[in-house]
Amino acid sequence: MSDAYKIIDHSYDTVVVGAGGSGLRATMGSAEAGLKTACITKVFPTRSHTVAAQGGIAASLGNNTPDHWTWHMYDTVKGSDWLGDQDAIEYMVREAPAAVYELEHAGVPFSRNENGTIYQRPFGGHMQNMGEGPPVQRTCAAADRTGHAMLHALYQQSLKYDADFYIEYFALDLIMEDTPSGKVCRGVIALCMADGSIHRFRSHAVVLATGGYGRCYFSATSAHTCTGDGGGMVLRAGLPLQDLEFVQFHPTGIYGAGVLITEGARGEGGYLTNSEGERFMERYAPSAKDLASRDVVSRSMALEMREGRGVGEHKDHIFLHLDHIDPKVLAERLPGITESGKIFAGVDLTRQPLPVTPTVHYNMGGVPCNYHGQVVTKVGDDPEVPVPGLFAVGEAACVSVHGANRLGSNSLIDLVVFGRATGLHLKETLTPNGAHQPLPKDSADLALARLDKFRNASGGSPTSEIRLEMQRTMQKHAAVFRDSALLTEGVAKMQEVNKRLQDVHVTDRSLIWNTDLVETLELDNLMSQAICTITGAEARKESRGAHAHEDFPDRDDANWMKHTVSWFDGWGGSGGKVTLDYRPVHDYTLTDDAEYIKPKKRVY
Ligand code: FUM
Repeated sequence: MSDAYKIIDHSYDTVVVGAGGSGLRATMGSAEAGLKTACITKVFPTRSHTVAAQGGIAASLGNNTPDHWTWHMYDTVKGSDWLGDQDAIEYMVREAPAAVYELEHAGVPFSRNENGTIYQRPFGGHMQNMGEGPPVQRTCAAADRTGHAMLHALYQQSLKYDADFYIEYFALDLIMEDTPSGKVCRGVIALCMADGSIHRFRSHAVVLATGGYGRCYFSATSAHTCTGDGGGMVLRAGLPLQDLEFVQFHPTGIYGAGVLITEGARGEGGYLTNSEGERFMERYAPSAKDLASRDVVSRSMALEMREGRGVGEHKDHIFLHLDHIDPKVLAERLPGITESGKIFAGVDLTRQPLPVTPTVHYNMGGVPCNYHGQVVTKVGDDPEVPVPGLFAVGEAACVSVHGANRLGSNSLIDLVVFGRATGLHLKETLTPNGAHQPLPKDSADLALARLDKFRNASGGSPTSEIRLEMQRTMQKHAAVFRDSALLTEGVAKMQEVNKRLQDVHVTDRSLIWNTDLVETLELDNLMSQAICTITGAEARKESRGAHAHEDFPDRDDANWMKHTVSWFDGWGGSGGKVTLDYRPVHDYTLTDDAEYIKPKKRVY
């Protein structure tokens, strides 16, 4: 197969796949360490999905209210519904303030307090005094364009340290070698989308920073590029993903359009009402109200709609009010969503409420890895053995700091803390320009066989049709609320949808900007993760965080305080078998400075 396609070879110490916040931070760290570093990205770096992150980045700076990293740790563990690994959470919250100051020094134009310090706003689930309250102001923001500001600063820094960027290159598959001691990653194969050339990147480290796979759902705040390309490659490499059943619904996606309205809107005083004009969150979360964690707010909204108190003709959305807030504050702190309200809902936020509904926003699960970014897998009885040469960061990864539910603004801090940690680990373990092992003979076979098969696919089903069926099935069967009947039926339906990939039709046979082909490769990546998601959800007989199972409404720590690990067999509609296993949650902290936070009932 490799004879049919000309391959262009490259050698690097580190290859980062993806140029969002975590990918750029890892690229910057690796290049700064003197390692020969490449970053491969399917979109221009500043157009990566981090650009859509609005409300901010959490760190216990204590600029606007008292705060402490142990409070941040408590909130994150509680937010995760005790599925987060407490050693990794301790690492993240302790490193958070330094990571934010580093961004400040790199040029991120944070909003300011009168005294010149970084402005911090309240966000859902972030409290003072080990969860006791009142809400803490912990989320540092650049108005409501924080991700946008971060991407520009991090891209500039990466260029300063001389990283090479391969822009509009689509990563096809990992180069894996089976050795007597297990699988080793030796690089990655990519397609240059502009001219169709195939590139083989040999490297000591591949860092997957490919983001989430929100686009396996019909309505998502995720960009159309969020197709889980790293997760797809990992599954095809015979490695597992972790905790995929935990899918976050953001409470405030604009009704109909799915566009994000930041939680910062509620942080700045916005509130939700039902068709009776009632501020219903007071009933569900008497203390935190509209600033409860996202899973709680999304479920409350879904219940209001289900009980007939949704607004609009179909009672299928909720109102978000910002019309009581001083327009000057909206202009200064929330200019982006003020514009989005006008464009996507035709609403003037200063005068009218905005129609919103819970919308898929974030994957808590992903590629299992430790807090150095090393991807881990099960070898013998050990569930967490690092895979040499393979790393994952950002939404693509599952460290696991978010467990069953992520707190708002803990994503951006995850990106930079673990992007940086991975860079530091590479600095400590790699020697610049170190000699490479010979590549396995079949290094490009999987990538090219898959590319060629889809390129020449002449079945009866257009990619868009199969994708829509997958999205509608996931939206219906693995939504905010799930039950056994819905899930069981959903698993069977997804198996059928997967099989349709064998009948896919790709119209464009060329290799020059073949979006039909790239979308099909993306669909294949989405499909394997969608099936693992719904299969893991069907198997988990409890409710925890974002997994709200109506037949098992309570959290069951005795049986289910464990991470799901899933393997997927096949690609392109073949196979489809999911193998599930479980691994223990880390019930220990990183240092003696932090105390293990014991499970208790989660109320806000
Ligand atoms: O609501 C928001 O601004 C989103 C933030 C996040 O997902 O962390």
